[in-house]
Amino acid sequence: QEGSTFLVLANRLPVDSYTDENGNVQWKRSPGGLVTALEPMLKKREGAWIGWAGGTSEPPAPFREDGMKIVPIELTQEDVEEYYEGFSNATLWPLYHDAMVTPIYDRSWWDKYVEVNQRFADAAAKEAAEGGTVFIQDYQLQLVPQMLRELRPDVRIGFFLHIPFPPKELFSQLPWRSRVMEGLLGADLIGFQVQGAARNFLDLTRDFLGLSPTENTVVAKDGRKVKVADYPISISSKEYDNLARSAEVEKLIHQYLSELGNRRIILGVDRLDYTKGIDRRLKAYREMLADGMLDPEEVVLVQVAPPSRERVRSYAKLREEVEREIGGINGEFGRFGLPAVDYIPRSLNRTELAALFRIADLMMVTPIRDGMNLVCKEYVASRIFGNGNLILSEFAGAAQELKDAWLCNPHDIDGMKEVVKAAWDASEEEQKRRMSTMRDHVFEYDVDRWASDILHDLGID
Ligand code: G6P
Repeated sequence: QEGSTFLVLANRLPVDSYTDENGNVQWKRSPGGLVTALEPMLKKREGAWIGWAGGTSEPPAPFREDGMKIVPIELTQEDVEEYYEGFSNATLWPLYHDAMVTPIYDRSWWDKYVEVNQRFADAAAKEAAEGGTVFIQDYQLQLVPQMLRELRPDVRIGFFLHIPFPPKELFSQLPWRSRVMEGLLGADLIGFQVQGAARNFLDLTRDFLGLSPTENTVVAKDGRKVKVADYPISISSKEYDNLARSAEVEKLIHQYLSELGNRRIILGVDRLDYTKGIDRRLKAYREMLADGMLDPEEVVLVQVAPPSRERVRSYAKLREEVEREIGGINGEFGRFGLPAVDYIPRSLNRTELAALFRIADLMMVTPIRDGMNLVCKEYVASRIFGNGNLILSEFAGAAQELKDAWLCNPHDIDGMKEVVKAAWDASEEEQKRRMSTMRDHVFEYDVDRWASDILHDLGID
């Protein structure tokens, strides 16, 4: 058995299961950008993807799909509760997002995180070809680089963190902070979304491990040179642009416009997560309606918010709050057949999203903290006529790149209202000036560029 020469490890597999009309379980590609970006490399090499299929039933044996090998990792109910919902999403997720919800530190969750990370490392060690490359994704798997290096010193290991990496003041809270740092340092390359995150990490190698980092490298205790840099992730911009021009999208646009009435559209599209600032956005919108800055006969806020991590308490609470607030706004400002907020609590497909991006005069992306945020890049790529207004929180990684967005501070409700008003009143010329530089950027720095940059630095072209 030869093994795979290019392996991707992520908490989730790039496929979803469904049951066909004959009652058999089938798999189809889930619409993630990451798999699209890595697909050429997975196909060019003998590629494999190791991850969790979701759910807790016994997963199938490894199988082939779309030219790559899929290796499902089993998680039991207890694993899901302690490794996924617990340590990943009630400890690390809030801690890495400014601790805006209080992180919970629980020793048995940590133990389970170690155990599941070891399971991923073992699977990768078994699957990787001699001298192959393993590319590990995100905060759920931070211990895997070191664990894998111990088992397989011959493979090249890359790690990419999709979410923010916090400064010392916050990271210090983590009782297992040095273990996490050492886990990551098992990689040959550690990538972050933005420079600040890479900087935070390098500083911590000095503070907690006594290492001497330089600009973009740090020498680990065993003498290995580890590259640490920012690689801002992106989207398949050309694909979005093409989709936005398609006949299906055109058809949906007609349907949506007649359903929404003759009003200008403000759009929000977020996984229902407390980091996304949905509450602040609703507050600003409500006040603008109350102040008369916006007229409910002329505007509708379309908020798409697929529920996420619903068994984690802070998420369940957020959902209640958001829905209560939307109910309140509609009670106060909507009238029969004309809600002030059109709330869509489920995920839409790419065609539906592209249609919404095309008809939204204003797109509001207002996270309190976000590693990158791809929705704002999707909006820009979908604006095929070069107009439109992107209102973007300065706390999204994307704000480092999309400097011509209408930047705002979601903590400052008055400031945000002024920005919305300015965008609302912006001339076509002003819109185009801003949008054209953002479109140039998003087309040049697309997800293929991200993949080729990071894989090149990992030593595979
Ligand atoms: C963020 C994380 C991903 C995660 C996704 C969806 O984008 O960076 O690692 O897969 O959210 O969250 P979920 O918990 O449903 O996988």
